[in-house]
Amino acid sequence: MNQKKYLNKIIQGDALSVLKTLPDGIVDCGVTSPPYNKGENKKGWLVANVKYSGAVDKLPEELYQKSQVEVLNELFRVTKPGGSFFYNHKLRWERGKMLHPMDWLRKTNWTIRQEIIWDRKIAANIRGWRFWQIEERIYWLYKPKEGKLIGKELKPKHALLTSIWRFSPEQNIPHPAPFPLALPTRAIYSVMDENKGVIIDPYCGSGTTLVAAKILKHDFIGIEISKEYVKFAENRLKNYINEIEEANKELSQHIVIKTFKERKEKGEFVGKYRMKNNDRQKMLVLFDP
Ligand SMILES: C[S@@+](CC[C@H](N)C(=O)[O-])C[C@H]1O[C@@H](n2cnc3c(N)ncnc32)[C@H](O)[C@@H]1O
Repeated sequence: MNQKKYLNKIIQGDALSVLKTLPDGIVDCGVTSPPYNKGENKKGWLVANVKYSGAVDKLPEELYQKSQVEVLNELFRVTKPGGSFFYNHKLRWERGKMLHPMDWLRKTNWTIRQEIIWDRKIAANIRGWRFWQIEERIYWLYKPKEGKLIGKELKPKHALLTSIWRFSPEQNIPHPAPFPLALPTRAIYSVMDENKGVIIDPYCGSGTTLVAAKILKHDFIGIEISKEYVKFAENRLKNYINEIEEANKELSQHIVIKTFKERKEKGEFVGKYRMKNNDRQKMLVLFDP
């Protein structure tokens, strides 16, 4: 099969329809942030609207969730066993009822490997009906290989980055909802720091995932419905060199300063807190109200 014809391109069109035209098992990893079905016109005065140039982000919620399951299952089909997909979404509320990404993620074929909190480091507003929502979520989805649900162990230099990722929102890209380059760079590099492969983003917007893939020397497949954003992303990819420095800032954080052996030799923390009885007594006294 000639896979090359699909690679290093942005295919303009609807994510689900385009995904259906791709062959099985050609992708190694993906990152995306789909439209969140935020209802566009329903926003209260505290929250800014997000409007895309080529799509309406306003479906009946049931239909939205059903279409996300379909897209995610197509992504599962085009991904190789052992592959990963990072799905950025957030908690939403509709008429007081919480809508959680897990509501539809559990209906897909993927194994949910981890829920990562994206702390967007934004300032809180002083008014609101809930504690100010400054986080989004990133779901690490995994396609099991040879019946093994857990997959390979993550290298320490990546695992050390923890399940809370702290990145400020992207400010300099003229798209209504881009994520920062550090986000797909971290996701892809953490699971593919040696082998090169194919990275997909089915809602690629301004092309952030594709730029990260290109900098990390992978092939990529982008899908995007808006002709305007496709044009912008293609141009951004041509000038990807300008973004290498930004990506390198993220890569420089994947580092183990002291190995397990070195910590052990120095009697430092190696992963398990073993509290001596004396210490436990002292803690109880400290916490005694
Ligand atoms: C949250 S944005 C993604 C932004 C992207 N991560 C970036 O960094 O620029 C979602 C994108 O999905 C696109 N979109 C909306 N509906 C779509 C559909 N049915 N198929 C493909 N793309 C769609 C929008 O035009 C928008 O660019």
